[in-house]
Amino acid sequence: MVYQIYPRSFLDTNHDGIGDLRGILRKLDYLQTLGVDIVWLCPIFQSPNDDNGYDISDYRAVMTEFGTMADFDELIAAMHARGMKLVLDLVVNHTSDEHPWFVASRTSKTSPYRDYYLWRPEREHRPPSEWRSAFGGPAWTKDERTGEYYLHLFSKKQPDLNWENPAVRQEVHALMRFWLNKGVDGFRMDVINAISKTETLPAYEAYVAGAPVAEEFHPNGETVHAYLKEMRSEVLNGHVTVTVGECPEVTPEMAHLYVDEDRQELDMLFQFEHMDLDWVPGTDTWHLRPIVLDELKQTLSRWQTALDRRGWNSLYWDNHDQPRVVSRFGDDGKYRVESAKMLATLLHMMKGTPYVYQGEELGMTNVAFDTIADYRDIATLRMYREKLAPDGSNQAELMAAIHARSRDNARTPMQWNAQAYAGFSEVKSWIGVNPNYTSINAEQALEDPESVFYYYQKLIALRKQQDIMVYGEYALLDTGTQPLYAYLRRMEGRVLLVVCSFTTQEELFRLPAELAGQPCECLIANYPAEPTPADMLRLPPYGAAVYLFTAQ
Ligand code: GLC
Ligand code: CA
Repeated sequence: MVYQIYPRSFLDTNHDGIGDLRGILRKLDYLQTLGVDIVWLCPIFQSPNDDNGYDISDYRAVMTEFGTMADFDELIAAMHARGMKLVLDLVVNHTSDEHPWFVASRTSKTSPYRDYYLWRPEREHRPPSEWRSAFGGPAWTKDERTGEYYLHLFSKKQPDLNWENPAVRQEVHALMRFWLNKGVDGFRMDVINAISKTETLPAYEAYVAGAPVAEEFHPNGETVHAYLKEMRSEVLNGHVTVTVGECPEVTPEMAHLYVDEDRQELDMLFQFEHMDLDWVPGTDTWHLRPIVLDELKQTLSRWQTALDRRGWNSLYWDNHDQPRVVSRFGDDGKYRVESAKMLATLLHMMKGTPYVYQGEELGMTNVAFDTIADYRDIATLRMYREKLAPDGSNQAELMAAIHARSRDNARTPMQWNAQAYAGFSEVKSWIGVNPNYTSINAEQALEDPESVFYYYQKLIALRKQQDIMVYGEYALLDTGTQPLYAYLRRMEGRVLLVVCSFTTQEELFRLPAELAGQPCECLIANYPAEPTPADMLRLPPYGAAVYLFTAQ
């Protein structure tokens, strides 16, 4: 399993309110207790922090606030000594506008670095296209020095690199080798399916000659596959690595092109279809709609089935861009513990590599800061600024959307104990602590055998004992209109039955005929489940239970 750390919010050891590498080092025992195999660190490189490290100005230097290269070397050595692997975030769709390449690129049209980025002249006194940045506003910014526009799919401080340029690709390969030679075990590749723009944006000369630009940018342009294959053969194949690509707008059919073994591209990817179920499609993600259990089942099952024989799934609920799952798909009030465990069960029993985002193992929840001044995320602040009515009449509505969907929900400091600043720091942190830290924190969880933490620990340990959890074939069970998500995993005559309840009511689940009355063993449950159910299973609110039926 992979544990994702957002270093800025993990643990601060030098009292500046910002998490750091030594903070991670100090918590390796904690990670080992949980059962972590691989740690993925969100960007730790030098950055002006317009987007908290996803805007890199030096790919070979550690962000000053996070520590030094010596700290990094110590951290990776300590991880390896414990048998843990380390994955870094590779952010190469774009750089910071303060990266020396961009600084040089913008100086003149003839700079050797000009072609490292995507510059285009205006068209009929308009930007080259109407593309929108993912954080709001136009995706093109005019640079006065040369009068041309540069493309930035994210903030204007994150100019997109021109992957068509072989020099850019070689630079990326070189920086990957730099970290691999330091012992890094792989990469999580930021919006990697967006690097190809060939189909959406004509080359400079063609553009100037009048070739049309696509109406909207969409990722998965054709050349991305050539670039990934090149990266694999030029860089990754020389090392033992694990790679996972962040791939918005990817379908299971497309996923095969990225992750099937014979394609020699990526090991896994992050798809977003199950993350898109609580906002209105076609909007900018801030328009909420209630989550429909049946859609969640259909979506996750589609991925489970499509990548069953070929390819491999990554399994996740939380990350640094998503609201907390217990608040989103569970109940963060009365049934917080039960629903956090239920959601963990549902995901960890599936086929693929499970990812746990810091604090998920504690059942950490969304936060609801009162004022916009308490928020830090560039996407949240930008949305609020753009949408706030001049008379402020929609303020409550915007704050409600932020409470539900802001990326800052995942970025409040890790809750270590009930002391000031949740034990994250001894001073006020860069972003406020969730006030519920007094009751939800690691120290308390480690003392309570019934905690969400120990439940995750057990799920993670089970996967290492039960090969059916890794390899078993997935089959969704029809539960009619009941608010249940039930599925089977099958392998060599054995069957794993997973039943999860999404309601505050008690539910009765009828076992499939083939399993009723058969000998079985309860592997894990978030309530005192019947050791051997006959034909009915009684599920309390947010109940979850897993049974292994062994071959006769
Ligand atoms: C990815 C990251 C996100 C970042 C964006 C731009 O989606 O996960 O945090 O803002 O890319 O780099
Ligand atoms: Ca610090």
